[in-house]
Amino acid sequence: MKILGTGAGLPARRVYNSELAAFLDTSDEWIVSHTGIQTRYVCVEESLTDLAEAAGRQALRNAGWTAKDMDLLIAATISGDYITPSLACRVAERLGAVCPAFDVNAACSGFIYALEAADAFMAAGKAENILILACEEMSKHVDWTDRSICPLFGDGAGAVAVSCGGALRYMHLTAAGNTAPLKMRAPRGNSPFQPDVPQEDKFIRMSGQEVFKFAVQSIEKEVGLALAALSLAPEDVHLYLLHQANLRIIESARQKLKLSADKFPTNIERHGNMSSAAIPILLNEMLEAGKVAEGDILLMSAFGAGMTTGTCVWYWES
Ligand code: UT7
Repeated sequence: MKILGTGAGLPARRVYNSELAAFLDTSDEWIVSHTGIQTRYVCVEESLTDLAEAAGRQALRNAGWTAKDMDLLIAATISGDYITPSLACRVAERLGAVCPAFDVNAACSGFIYALEAADAFMAAGKAENILILACEEMSKHVDWTDRSICPLFGDGAGAVAVSCGGALRYMHLTAAGNTAPLKMRAPRGNSPFQPDVPQEDKFIRMSGQEVFKFAVQSIEKEVGLALAALSLAPEDVHLYLLHQANLRIIESARQKLKLSADKFPTNIERHGNMSSAAIPILLNEMLEAGKVAEGDILLMSAFGAGMTTGTCVWYWES
């Protein structure tokens, strides 16, 4: 598999830490020093489908495809506008695609899980040109009265158009069977026989320090496995595109590998944590900035609720 085109879609509204400090007991200093986040984008007028459509159209344009060239559309998301139809079907309708479409939920690892699904469809000879979306409207899932959660997240959509090729050299997914540290309940309690759930259960709940430890350990382990599988030294990788959840997590990975900061690009400062959308948007930014050359080795590693991880390595091919 190889990536032929990328795209991104963002809301117009950028929210600064100082704006949060106006209604929460927090400060720009606390948020920046504990997370690295300075701003995040939040949907106001836009729907998630709007962002996903914009990202998808850009990826199609960059790949030189029309919607009719797609054999399959996969969307990674935990925040589609509808439970059904899927976000993938909503975007397929807008794009005028005539191919199967479905959603994947692996939380922040969703983009890597969707890549693996796409690769499997290709390997089985069931699809050749696949559009992958990774799109999140985290602002509707956070409790805006909870200073420990709402400053962390942002909204955004990323997209990649993938086709057959030899760029993807390594893929490893995990699910640790540990769902307690990070979760959000689906709606329930609608029948007359079941009481309503308390409001606080409807938002993201996270044990921050537990997730932090899992993230640091899993990135170290998964990067080590990927490098060993391909007989690579840490410095052989040109870019480490890590899930953007906390600048301190990325910095810890960088220090363990003893590498320079330019190998660990970040966008969390501007975007916050966009869950599954973080890595494809970062990839799109790197390509637009001309930071990826033919033959470059890119390692992507994500972790998220489940707890899930997804790690893959590309030898860039255009
Ligand atoms: O993609 C999803 C995966 N999520 C993550 O990877 C998140 C991983 N975890 C983290 O990034 C960090 O644990 C957090 C950023 C969530 C929290 O940072 P921390 O350094 O672990 O802080 P803490 O939870 O230990 O809280 C320290 C203090 C507490 O006050 P007390 O109890 O010591 O008085 C918190 O109430 O900081 C307080 N606090 C805040 N203060 C000001 C928590 N959030 C805020 C805030 N502003 N926004």
